[in-house]
Amino acid sequence: MLRALIVLLLSAFFISTASAQETAPDRAATGGAQTLEDILARQRGEEIDDSFRRDAIGNPDAAADISNQLGTLGGASDPELWRALRYNSADITASNSGPAATVLVQDGGMRWLMFRDGPLSTYGSYLLLGTIALLALFFVIRGRIRIDGEKTGRTIERFKSVERFGHWLLAGSFILLGITGLISLLGRKFLIPAFGHEAFAFIAVGSKWVHNNVSWAFMVALVMIFVMWVIHNLPDRSDINWLLKGGGIFSKGHPPAKKFNAGQKLIFWSVIVLGTSISVSGLALLFPFELPMFAATFAKMNSLGISGVLGLGELPTVLAPHEEMQLAQLWHAIVSFVLMAIILAHIYIGSVGMEGAYDAMGTGQVEEQWAREHHSLWVEEVKEKEGAAPGGATPAE
Ligand code: HEM
Repeated sequence: MLRALIVLLLSAFFISTASAQETAPDRAATGGAQTLEDILARQRGEEIDDSFRRDAIGNPDAAADISNQLGTLGGASDPELWRALRYNSADITASNSGPAATVLVQDGGMRWLMFRDGPLSTYGSYLLLGTIALLALFFVIRGRIRIDGEKTGRTIERFKSVERFGHWLLAGSFILLGITGLISLLGRKFLIPAFGHEAFAFIAVGSKWVHNNVSWAFMVALVMIFVMWVIHNLPDRSDINWLLKGGGIFSKGHPPAKKFNAGQKLIFWSVIVLGTSISVSGLALLFPFELPMFAATFAKMNSLGISGVLGLGELPTVLAPHEEMQLAQLWHAIVSFVLMAIILAHIYIGSVGMEGAYDAMGTGQVEEQWAREHHSLWVEEVKEKEGAAPGGATPAE
């Protein structure tokens, strides 16, 4: 399922233009070589059917004999050899080993670079800035969500120290990864003009080091959070009511909720699913060419008919090792942008957006009135377990 999700966005970009040129153009005038129209179509960003070049790599067996010692007949011609190199079908022997060693020219590299520096950077930045703007607007309209009732002065334990440790490990690592990831993607554009090449070289090297190494803390914390909280994040009937009432954000009163309300469950599952996807694609980048997964995912999508349903046609199932890396990089960045936007909203509501929320992750103790308003069903469960009458919680200092 995760693999299936992985390809959606990227395949849309990579494959959408595949059927651009439907009728084979007449190339008689160029003797079968590419025409001006082919070149112009490529410059317009259309992907032309290039099999007439891709497959024209000569056939030494069918060639005429070499006519004399310095003769040029026979074998494959230079253009044919270059085409074979370009389309990755030349028979190459390399002194170093590894899956990428025999790929000398990788045709999709330019498209990847243009997408990375163009739409990915632009729309990713818009997404983050737009989210911040929306949160600011929400704050202006709705203000801080206050505790409505009279505070009791009593507190309830909401998260144990190991839970808070897991949360802050996840949060701390994610924030560092987010900042250093953005430096890697956008630093050349924004930091070089501001600080110069030399300073940026230092920042970029440090940033990459932090990003590569802190990733492990994120993965450990992700597992911790999953193990500790999954039980509280399984959907139940109270979620439907909570969602129908929009969490009570704009209305009076709060819909009942267990330990985590439906909104928090959405955050939890976003963190788990998107965080896992970011981790897996990150590992593919950390260990180059060792974890190719897109060709296999595309094959699954083709066989399950998912690509057809999505209108993507038949997805390519043979990808150059570099293409796998390029897709991993784009997917890693796209999913990270989405999760960063979600987490910005989470940070807002867990800090300035709601009175009394931060304490849950700060001290682990929350005001009982806050708990009754936001998680009434959970308070009942806690009280039942304690076997104490309401009001038997620890007095606040
Ligand atoms: C400075 C940043 C952050 C603050 C102030 C913050 C605050 C909080 C608070 C107060 C809670 C408990 C809510 C409750 O008692 O019901 C919480 C829960 C949680 N946090 Fe954070 N958090 C931050 C960053 C992050 C990051 C970066 C992630 C993940 C990448 C994350 C993931 C979660 C998850 C999954 C939960 C449980 C579900 C939920 O309450 O939404 N947090 N956070």
